[in-house]
Amino acid sequence: MADAKKTAKLTFDGKEFELPILSPTCGPDVIDIRKLYSQADVFTYDPGFTSTASCDSTITFIDGDKGELLHRGYPIDQLAGKSHFLEVCYLLLYGELPSADQLEDFEARVTNHTMIHDQMQFLFRGFRRDAHPMAIMVGVVGAMSAFYHDSTDITDPWQREVATIRLIAKMPTIAAMAYKYTIGQPFVYPRNDLDYAANFLRMCFAVPAEDYEVNPILSRAMDRIFTLHADHEQNASTSTVRLASSSGANPFACIAAGIACLWGPAHGGANQACLEMLEEIGSVDRIPEFIARAKDKDDDYRLMGFGHRVYKNFDPRATVMKQSADEVLDLLGVENNPKLQVAKELERQALEDPYFAEKKLFPNVDFYSGIILEAMGFPTSMFTPIFALARTVGWISQWKEMIADPQNKIGRPRQLYVGEGPRDYVDVEDR
Ligand code: ACO
Repeated sequence: MADAKKTAKLTFDGKEFELPILSPTCGPDVIDIRKLYSQADVFTYDPGFTSTASCDSTITFIDGDKGELLHRGYPIDQLAGKSHFLEVCYLLLYGELPSADQLEDFEARVTNHTMIHDQMQFLFRGFRRDAHPMAIMVGVVGAMSAFYHDSTDITDPWQREVATIRLIAKMPTIAAMAYKYTIGQPFVYPRNDLDYAANFLRMCFAVPAEDYEVNPILSRAMDRIFTLHADHEQNASTSTVRLASSSGANPFACIAAGIACLWGPAHGGANQACLEMLEEIGSVDRIPEFIARAKDKDDDYRLMGFGHRVYKNFDPRATVMKQSADEVLDLLGVENNPKLQVAKELERQALEDPYFAEKKLFPNVDFYSGIILEAMGFPTSMFTPIFALARTVGWISQWKEMIADPQNKIGRPRQLYVGEGPRDYVDVEDR
């Protein structure tokens, strides 16, 4: 935690209070209000945490005005262009880029944990076949705490490390099994001779009846999608993981909570919602109609994949994703994909519209990811599970950081109570 060198003054009820100001490495100063209630008997009010830092962290930094995203100081475009997902996992988890030996060791550890306990297949089989894969993932990942008892003691650093590797390694297997189950195909076991992304694609698309060869272009694109989603500081699902973990809950339960939060259309569910929107728009001539709806104050319709709580200039992940969409569709020979055309034209028209400019609404990471995933052969219901798979490393990195932090205490927000004051119970016959 940065030392307080400056202070802010608050005058309240005729008294003056001095509040320490903490200066971060990057980003705006933070007023430390931890002692405010005990000293001034007053709370602060910030629904949606628009002005509140909930923790200090060394993992990820976002400058929303500049459109900058750094993991441990490294810009996301450099990581997406030069690195690969497992190296980024190492960076997020341990703070530095690995040496060649460290990377080899880390990759071997992840690769050797990709299988799940065989009994877990019966959990999948308990779901309806038409279950959303996210519903299956919330359940199965939560249930990992019933299978891996030797990595649920959060006070033991070794167990925390084992849980970390298990979660990163098994998440692709679980996501692929959720997919296979919902389409009625047999589960495909992981293969340790394939890299992380290629193994995932194979587990999703191979069938026992014939050989399946992973297209290296697609596995590279898959890996880049994982990298772009790996972490995003204190977003809703990460904050959910931290809050769940603050009570001392085991890592599998906490990650299941993160998956549940990610599912919503205002968060990770936006990639599915965005592709459905592009489908609904259908052709470029209908774009003005949808833009008009998004601008209409009396219509709660929003352009999915547009806007972000933090980015107010552009989302650097969306820039890489757009390039990737062009490359992948080109290489697959589907450069005339109608959804890509609608997406590009929608982006162009929205960015020229004063409504979107004034409100600083730009395409976010979800705007183009669905187009790539669809071109790869994934149904829309798999988009958010893939996001969850990739974000798992971010959730775990933040979870590990929090557990190791001596300041860690249970998260417990206060409230502005506006309900009834005390009143006497009325017997039912007198109401
Ligand atoms: N389309 C049209 N108008 C929008 C949009 C949009 N996509 N997003 C925000 N606005 C408008 C709001 O109506 C509001 O207008 P007002 O000031 O006249 O009331 C203003 O912009 C600010 O919007 P808020 O909802 O207050 O902004 P907030 O920071 O709370 O929400 C969010 C950010 C949830 C991402 C929002 O922009 C949204 O719903 N976008 C669509 C869903 C989406 O793409 N989510 C993915 C986010 S990225 C991720 O999780 C990976």
